[in-house]
Amino acid sequence: MLSMFTAKPVTLTINDQKVIERVSVKQTILTSALAANIRFPHHCQVGSCGACRCQLVSGEVKQLTDSAYVLSAKAIAQGMILACQSVPRSNVSIKLNFRQRQLADEPQE
Ligand code: FES
Repeated sequence: MLSMFTAKPVTLTINDQKVIERVSVKQTILTSALAANIRFPHHCQVGSCGACRCQLVSGEVKQLTDSAYVLSAKAIAQGMILACQSVPRSNVSIKLNFRQRQLADEPQE
């Protein structure tokens, strides 16, 4: 009976490689990745710099904050999320550029 209230861990796949078999559904994608010694790009960890942005390919996440003031409408429409503000709700697959930097470091379009 209790099992129906216990969230099961999920898997995290980055760039088509399953990298974490048991991701806690209570931690963000970034926190889980860093705990697994994955060199996930990040900086602020509070959803303000955009350094942890990645594209959600499949799965569901709960977003802890509104990313609309960091990510453009176009980026959000393309499935971009902030890993530091996204908690997995199912098995999650993301695309990530491991060499990306903070949005403020990038040239403006
Ligand atoms: S680490 Fe800065 S927005 Fe996620």
